[in-house]
Amino acid sequence: MQIARLYIILLLLAGFGLSACGGEKSDDTDAAAETAATDDGLSLEAQIGPITALELAAYDAVLAAEGGAAFGAKCTACHSLEAKVIGPALAGVLDRRSPVYVMNMIMNPTGMLESHPDAQALLAEYAVPMVPLGIPEAEARAIVEYLRGEG
Ligand code: HEC
Repeated sequence: MQIARLYIILLLLAGFGLSACGGEKSDDTDAAAETAATDDGLSLEAQIGPITALELAAYDAVLAAEGGAAFGAKCTACHSLEAKVIGPALAGVLDRRSPVYVMNMIMNPTGMLESHPDAQALLAEYAVPMVPLGIPEAEARAIVEYLRGEG
């Protein structure tokens, strides 16, 4: 019995090894390597894009109010500031994530979930992918200002 069980485990491991090596994945790896080479020096979230750089200047209360309205209309189905809902609580998110990370999570959640290990860790925890909402850059920037003020 012991030996039969061991044999089955070995077969399973061999199968896993083969599927991990086989097929389409190698193209992705090449593409990622090229991106890393051409965009040298950029953080991973900047390489995922679309936003590659964002320096936060002085806090802009008018922009933050605009962002608060957008947040209420488009994000509160899944997020609140202080409590986990379908997604994580977002108060203080800019203390743990870069502005570029937050912009790209808002504008390109699918790309971030495909390629960023920190986003993938949250997906593993929440088990629901954040959906692309077609948020334009100016609106995403206003939401960042709002979240910054709610840190
Ligand atoms: C359909 C539900 C849903 C909507 C709508 C949604 N999110 Fe998310 N969001 C999530 C989930 C779930 C996660 C965690 C990652 C995952 O599982 O995809 C997440 C993650 C995030 C993160 C990353 C947080 C971190 O700690 O890294 C940010 C920032 C974020 N969302 C901002 C927003 C903003 C701003 C909006 C509105 C424009 C929004 N989300 C709309 C579900 C949603």
